[in-house]
Amino acid sequence: MTTSKRHYHITTFGCQMNKADSERMAGVLEDMGFEWSEDPNNADVILYNTCTIRDNAEQKVYSYLGRQAKRKHEQPNLTLIVAGCVAQQEGEALLRRVPELDLVMGPQHANRLKDLLESVFAGNQVVATESVHIIEDITQPRRDSKVTAWVNVIYGCNERCTYCVVPNVRGVEQSRTPSAIRAEIEELGRQGYKEVTLLGQNIDAYGRDLPGTTPEGRHLYNFTDLLYYVHDLPGIERLRFATSHPRYFTERLIKACAELPKVCEHFHIPFQSGDNELLKAMSRGYTHEKYRRIIDTIRRYMPDASISADAIVGFPGETEAQFENTLKLVEDIGFDMLNTATYSPRPGTPAALWDNQLSEEVKSDRLQRLNHLGNLKVAERSQRYFGRIESVLVEDQNPKDQTQVMGRTGGNRLTFFSGDIKELKGQLVKVKITEVRPFSLTGEPVEIKQALSV
Ligand code: SAH
Ligand code: SF4
Ligand code: F3S
Repeated sequence: MTTSKRHYHITTFGCQMNKADSERMAGVLEDMGFEWSEDPNNADVILYNTCTIRDNAEQKVYSYLGRQAKRKHEQPNLTLIVAGCVAQQEGEALLRRVPELDLVMGPQHANRLKDLLESVFAGNQVVATESVHIIEDITQPRRDSKVTAWVNVIYGCNERCTYCVVPNVRGVEQSRTPSAIRAEIEELGRQGYKEVTLLGQNIDAYGRDLPGTTPEGRHLYNFTDLLYYVHDLPGIERLRFATSHPRYFTERLIKACAELPKVCEHFHIPFQSGDNELLKAMSRGYTHEKYRRIIDTIRRYMPDASISADAIVGFPGETEAQFENTLKLVEDIGFDMLNTATYSPRPGTPAALWDNQLSEEVKSDRLQRLNHLGNLKVAERSQRYFGRIESVLVEDQNPKDQTQVMGRTGGNRLTFFSGDIKELKGQLVKVKITEVRPFSLTGEPVEIKQALSV
């Protein structure tokens, strides 16, 4: 008798939320008896977890899908799924465009994959994009790493930045309960994970939708309370979080990060633009002065903290002088990492309809100039690591040099040093930095816990 195992493949586009969702969906598929296949061409179920933040992200999906849709004509049993943000945005329209699809499911439905697939296997073509209360997950995610893990704390976003599709595709804010989050991290600690990144599109909004207030009228649980509540779980040596919104960022949170030893001194706080008029047109709800004050306060408490951010160039109506205000902010602050993009008009967002759009030439010229400056500053910031001793959490082997392992510093710089991954995986190692590049470091271990066999 031959029993051939059924295989699944997932390709993930987009942000950490999507990566976390993919890990949960992979967990569901494994629970259903499917086995992972790296090669989509050997899989019986193919899932694309998609991103629509910019037009080029969306277009990528269609080219991947086209290939598999063709395969489906020779292999009718192949199940094709589009999940994530393009699925939510396009819904039924995706079936008209790619009729070979079996299932189109928005991000809020990730935890319902099993029910949805059962309906597909019963012969239906399914579209699941209605907005739902996200159910707590009961299956174990299949996590890519054994050392670091993502934990969602809040889904969705209630902001209305005028350029952004996320609120349309991820829905309204839904905070998980503090106890569910703590239980997940506790379990990760038991399983040997060392680092947890708490995730939310606007993590500072955590708790706003939970019932209960303090005597002063403050919500019982905001994100800072949550950090205090989960910071001490056994086994977990590092906590990170993303993404922070300047509008809601508080000094109390900064103090908590300075005070709690496991919370890494790394902040991801997108500013988007350094110009107040543009920030207003974007509906961001802060000024560049406020953003600068936040960074100053962080550096007052934690002089070495690393700061990363996102910025958009070529937003509708952006003048050369306004763009230069963004350059000035980048020059003044000196980010440890800067993600940049040209503005991309997105369906269903206000700014896409404005008639003051800029040409692609202007946008890409500004992107180049911003990247040039951003990279110079990143390289400058990297220099401060030279000769220092940094704690590196070892995650993997260096794929380019098997005699080396790699991990990250608390400030999130990728670091390589020589060592055996079998021995070092998941260990926090003190490394003296001997070589500095803009985006990564190389060093020598100065102290490895000796596994003394007596
Ligand atoms: N919630 C986060 C970011 C989510 S999207 C925040 O508020 O900052 C990630 C990044 O994509 C954004 O920070 C922004 O820089 C970029 N982005 C979002 N919409 C975009 C668009 N229409 N065009 C170009 N970049 C965009
Ligand atoms: Fe988009 Fe703004 Fe929400 Fe971030 S805060 S996800 S940029 S709407
Ligand atoms: Fe993309 Fe959706 Fe994340 S649009 S950036 S995958 S929330």
